[in-house]
Amino acid sequence: MENKPATDASHLVYCVTAISAMGGMLFGYDIGVISGAILFIKKQFSLSAGMEEIVVGSVLLGSLLGAVVGGILADRFGRRKLLIATAIVFALGAIGAALAPDVAWLICARIIAGVAIGIASFVAPLYISEIAPVAIRGKLVSINQVALTSGIVISYLVDYAFAGAHAWRWMFAMAFVPAGIFGVGLIFIPDSPRWLVSRGHVDSARAVLVRIRNPQQVDAELSRIQEGAAQQKGHWSELLSPLLRMALIVGVGLAMAQQITGINTVIYYAPTIFKFAGFSSSAVAILASVGIGVVNVIFTLLAMQLIDRVGRRPLLLISLAGMTLSLLVLGIAFALPQLSGILGWVAVASLMAYVGSFAVGLGPVFWLVLSELYPLSIRGRAMSIGTIANWGANLIVAVSFLTLIHLMGKAGTFWLFGGVSIGAWVFAYLLVPETKGKTLEEIESHWRAGKHPREL
Ligand code: BGC
Repeated sequence: MENKPATDASHLVYCVTAISAMGGMLFGYDIGVISGAILFIKKQFSLSAGMEEIVVGSVLLGSLLGAVVGGILADRFGRRKLLIATAIVFALGAIGAALAPDVAWLICARIIAGVAIGIASFVAPLYISEIAPVAIRGKLVSINQVALTSGIVISYLVDYAFAGAHAWRWMFAMAFVPAGIFGVGLIFIPDSPRWLVSRGHVDSARAVLVRIRNPQQVDAELSRIQEGAAQQKGHWSELLSPLLRMALIVGVGLAMAQQITGINTVIYYAPTIFKFAGFSSSAVAILASVGIGVVNVIFTLLAMQLIDRVGRRPLLLISLAGMTLSLLVLGIAFALPQLSGILGWVAVASLMAYVGSFAVGLGPVFWLVLSELYPLSIRGRAMSIGTIANWGANLIVAVSFLTLIHLMGKAGTFWLFGGVSIGAWVFAYLLVPETKGKTLEEIESHWRAGKHPREL
């Protein structure tokens, strides 16, 4: 078992985590900003419903591309260098969208920002997971999700601030600030010691461990990482081997579960849903979305405190149960005639309960478990497969939400997500391992021994 880092080392680990988590913050900002901006873009470019879905969905297409290329790049060039390149792409995407003369340009800029999001979405948790001491790994990786959810709230607030002037260009431009902080901060952080070992740079890995651990822990951790690395081939094919197939199924299954239970219909379309619920002005609908975003942050903070104590599985199961229940109520509110007055508030409260339930489990636990599941030599590429599944499902849900509402009605759509949440609960119950308190190398040997996930 690993051990608590010395205070100085521990400060450094928190500092390094905070810088990497700016990647999560940009992820959140860039996906949240569209919800307010779209109300004005739609008017300026006279967009049809289909075109509106494409503008909202373009960032997801980019994220999917980022998820595809990010894994190979993270394993080859290292997590830190890739994150630095990502910060530059974030900045380009922000400026590009802000200056867009027409809708085609805007879509391209959003795809570029999306590539950065797709990469940062999993390389930031991956990097944090690899530098974290085992006892607080859950907490540190969850800081990325806290940053992500805060990024969403900040984007809503920025949207609100610029809504009066219809200044959607400024809404996008503001992402340049965190992108700059992210890029400059990354220059000062070390490479992941685990990645360094996987590339044969053992001395450099030791030098990093000396900075982020108690001196007496360094040798033990280094030899453990080396032992793990020695057993690996580093080929893609390893992932399809019978021993690791289950790890792949868990990652991909959880990735899809995180999206097809509907969270992003709320994140992207919150103001639209509030308008459905009877809030008529755009500015008020955007402001009400800030409430949703704040609930998301608060419950993610709670998860961060609990995740290394209670464990990943209990949070996940409670989270999915809460989501199912609140979707059921939300559907009922929309099914009753005349959604206004008290019923409008029931809809708002169940939307909040739904987001809170997601935030305390499925939100942070997915990215954490994904960063813990795979062997070092193929970790980047394996995470990238889970991430592709996540962004792919995200894209499908986002582009079909308004169509689903049209076809099945609002109540039917939320009940559909509720039904899927029940399926996700069963999947999590049967297959998601408890990784709390296990070193990444212990998790790896568990798969290699051919054991069932729940025996971990
Ligand atoms: C998900 C995102 C979602 C966010 C909301 C993340 O864990 O991957 O798709 O928008 O949580 O907080």
